[in-house]
Amino acid sequence: MIIGGGAEQVPAYKLAKQRGLFVVGTDLNPDAPALRFADHAILASTRDAEQTARCAVEFHSSHTIAGVMTIANDVPYTVARVADALGLPGIGLEAARNVVDKLLMKQCFGRHGVSCPWFTGIGTADELRTLLRAESGTRFVLKPVDGRGARGVLLIDSSIDVDWAFEESKRWGDSGRLILEKFVPGMQLSTESFILDGKCYTPAIAERNYDRLEQFAPNIIEDGGTIPAPLDEALRSSIDDTILRGAAALGIHEGIVKGDLVIAEDGQPMIIELAARLSGGWFATHQIPFASGVDLVSAVMSHALGEPLDECALQPSWSAATAIRYWYPPEGRIVSIRGEEELKKVPGLISYGFFRKTGDMQPKVLMHPDRFGFAIVGADTRQEALFRMEMALNSVQVEVAP
Ligand SMILES: Nc1ncnc2c1ncn2[C@@H]1O[C@H](COP(=O)(O)OP(=O)(O)O)[C@@H](O)[C@H]1O
Ligand SMILES: [Mg+2]
Repeated sequence: MIIGGGAEQVPAYKLAKQRGLFVVGTDLNPDAPALRFADHAILASTRDAEQTARCAVEFHSSHTIAGVMTIANDVPYTVARVADALGLPGIGLEAARNVVDKLLMKQCFGRHGVSCPWFTGIGTADELRTLLRAESGTRFVLKPVDGRGARGVLLIDSSIDVDWAFEESKRWGDSGRLILEKFVPGMQLSTESFILDGKCYTPAIAERNYDRLEQFAPNIIEDGGTIPAPLDEALRSSIDDTILRGAAALGIHEGIVKGDLVIAEDGQPMIIELAARLSGGWFATHQIPFASGVDLVSAVMSHALGEPLDECALQPSWSAATAIRYWYPPEGRIVSIRGEEELKKVPGLISYGFFRKTGDMQPKVLMHPDRFGFAIVGADTRQEALFRMEMALNSVQVEVAP
């Protein structure tokens, strides 16, 4: 059973079919693109854990469900709830609760001495005002405790319109609860690890690209990333150790862990957040396999089915470079999209996609789904990957009528 049928989930459905599995997909939208690859569709919101579990139990009474997973969808609680209801492998409900709440997560890190940014819960705009005033000049990040995809994640300091920031961040979460963290400057990393037998395997790490941080401030918009991140052996091992301890603090002792990390001023890794699921953004499905030969989607599928995993499958077979970047046309009606044929000729192009077509509205970029489209290129070296990425970005022109 795969929770969610979005475009980024298609590779998991295809892999399951290749493996000869009978695939049950779930999504609220009957036209969700991945459901075409499912043998049976359950129409339930991926965020509605109870409804999904009810439907899973009902289906299970006539057709045994052997495993449950998701990819590129921040619904670890729904996955855990189904696994729990059917007695399947999973992280358990308590760990799932810890990962879906950024405040609970940081409290777990705090209790277990796992390095993370200074944080506090925020209940009212006045509370926020008082904190910002007390440390004028310090940069903070305000976010909903249950947000995702950079929705409502704001980089602020005492000069911000506090009432606006409070309401803006709040409207993107379901719970209305906010967390304030100190902004930690430094190299930002995207990791994806598999924890097995007390060891953390991280086949490839991307350096997140924040060249556009000031352009989109106060919104924090990541403009893709580059593999390999410039890290030495010692730092890599300390990253694995931090992720292992961070996951354990949340109650996760086995399985997939996606990390947002930053290398702090002291040169040591700090965890911004961990997610108990496969990544989106074509990281697990395209970039990591290209860069390392490791197929984490396959590992997660095997693990969900309770099949034994070989640690060799989690170790890189090679080290290649990839980069992903996005296009950001100005806000307005899209009049034309040119250069797709040129783009296809870019050496090392791994994948690309446009999220909008001619005639659609390009919104102002407030969160990751507002980006226009993406390109992923591969090369032997990081430098070559970045060069090819320039070619890819320059080949496409999006004309917009204000
Ligand atoms: N305290 C912080 N210091 C530095 N960067 C941060 C901090 N909090 C968030 N960010 C940046 O913002 C991004 C989005 O925040 P995150 O907490 O991961 O929310 P989301 O659930 O939307 O992914 C992070 O990946 C990171 O790059
Ligand atoms: Mg994140």
